[in-house]
Amino acid sequence: MHSLIRKINKKHNSAFTFLLMLCFIPPNVLATTVSAPINPPVTSQPLQPAIYSKMSIHHPVWAEHGMVATQEALATQIGLDILKQGGNAVDAAVAVGYALAVTLPRAGNLGGGGFMLVYLANSKKVIAIDYREKAPSGASRDMYLDQAGEVIPNLSTYHGLAVGTPGTVMGLEHARKHYGTLTREQLMAPSIKLAKEGIIVTADLANSLTAMQKRLSQWPETQRIFYKKEGINYQAGDLFIQTDLANTLTTISQQGEKGFYQGEIAQAIANSVQEAKGNMSIKDLQQYNVVEREAIKGSYRGVQIYSMPPPSSGGVHIVQILNMLENYDLTSMGHNSAQHIHTLAETMRRAYADRSLHLGDSDFVKVPVNTLTSKKYAKQLVAGINPDHATSSKDIQPDANLPYESDQTTHFSIIDQWGNAVSNTYTLNYSYGSGMVAKGTGVLLNNEMDDFSAKPGHPNGYGLIGGEANAIAPNKRPLSSMSPTIVLKDEQLFMVTGTPGGSRIISSTLQLISNVIDFNMNIADATAATRIHHQWLPDTIRIESGLSLDTIRLLEAKGHELQLKQTMGSTQSIIKQKSGFYGASDPRTPSSLSLGY
Ligand code: DON
Repeated sequence: MHSLIRKINKKHNSAFTFLLMLCFIPPNVLATTVSAPINPPVTSQPLQPAIYSKMSIHHPVWAEHGMVATQEALATQIGLDILKQGGNAVDAAVAVGYALAVTLPRAGNLGGGGFMLVYLANSKKVIAIDYREKAPSGASRDMYLDQAGEVIPNLSTYHGLAVGTPGTVMGLEHARKHYGTLTREQLMAPSIKLAKEGIIVTADLANSLTAMQKRLSQWPETQRIFYKKEGINYQAGDLFIQTDLANTLTTISQQGEKGFYQGEIAQAIANSVQEAKGNMSIKDLQQYNVVEREAIKGSYRGVQIYSMPPPSSGGVHIVQILNMLENYDLTSMGHNSAQHIHTLAETMRRAYADRSLHLGDSDFVKVPVNTLTSKKYAKQLVAGINPDHATSSKDIQPDANLPYESDQTTHFSIIDQWGNAVSNTYTLNYSYGSGMVAKGTGVLLNNEMDDFSAKPGHPNGYGLIGGEANAIAPNKRPLSSMSPTIVLKDEQLFMVTGTPGGSRIISSTLQLISNVIDFNMNIADATAATRIHHQWLPDTIRIESGLSLDTIRLLEAKGHELQLKQTMGSTQSIIKQKSGFYGASDPRTPSSLSLGY
């Protein structure tokens, strides 16, 4: 390219050459030069890299000091305001965590749980905070089975027994107390205001409430809060006030986690769950605990990957799949070529098969994390991959047919002016969780118990994963796919990312990383690119729209079955470079937004 430019240079004036050179800047060259000077000096120095490249279709949001990427615009703005006030990334994350409970009620929550990775710039440490729900102490292995040993429909999803002891409030408080700098009152005031004074219903919120009306209105308390009188839906542009939730947030703001896990709110949660025939007690709430764990660490073509350890399966399998992919020259295959997708599917298939057997809450079962994340084991698995033909999942593990998980969780990523970062994924599991609001609190309760194996080892599989390692036990945490992830490059913070999407979280996250590392995409192009997913069982490659029919035919010729389904994931990502911060919120989610300053 340079010799081409030199040749052209002889013939043309310098301004024209400059413009021509801009056209050749590779897509991922990210840095400053907002507008080109009219008469650029002719110099032998390399061009100052540009923030935006004409080679890219999608462009990240750029900012100089810090960035917030979330799935809902009001929450993003609240996080940004905290950063601008001098709060650090953890402060902003706590404010966003509470805000999403108000503005994105289908996934943001107080009554659910999740995982937060924190990167501390000073010590260069990554902290993994586990605030996943726990099974109530009255839970038992066969609690969802009838006398014939069959799974009773809906018990683990839309019933009091579906609710795990929530972790979100304690998780956010833990993060704030240990790593934040602002007061609880400062961080919660914006969300209290939004709940009390109301939010303008977005098309996205109206859409989701309409879609869920049948399920949610089975719970009178939920119907009362989320639908107008006579069950009329909120329309885009309506004002939506959540008075009970505002009161609950105010209590937490005044009393801290005790305001949620003890006293009236805890009692109201336990009562509502028990009225719905669940067995969560106030003692379960009082005894809930957050755990700091060691992040899963891996590497991929020179960058370091940090992600969530068990009880999430995410970190282990992102690293495992990337380890396998490292054995291939993906770049020369071409992005989303049949060979590339075949390689992705075959590596995913093998990792998800391992997940079904080995993964569970490591406080209860032994998870072979070191083996699963080792380069040696990855090589062993890669040796079984035929580059020309699909391996049948039956030949990897005997018959099984695990269902896909539901699709509502939410992720946010934040980096502050000091280079501290937060990668947080939290959830109610299903959209609006169990659908049950604890009376008088405005708090939607999760149905995370559905992530356990209701019938471990059953060939039809129930719940997230059918393995014994993920069997139900009192106080155990159900296995998760949530994978908040932080990537370092040259010992410096490089990328913060994560996504909702159930079992597709793992595959979506690793494709995003590979799109940046292997295909040199900017973070917005990497986000928008069509995703694929294989999870061993069912033995099919799930695809989004955007692949050519030629590619699909070539994959079928290799023995793959493909299914076009709904889009996967909603990644919220930030890249940090010398030239600034680059944010990308997934265009698959209409209300998502990245903002910086
Ligand atoms: O923890 C898990 O993996 C699931 N409960 C997450 C569900 C989910 O991501 C649904 N979302 N989009």
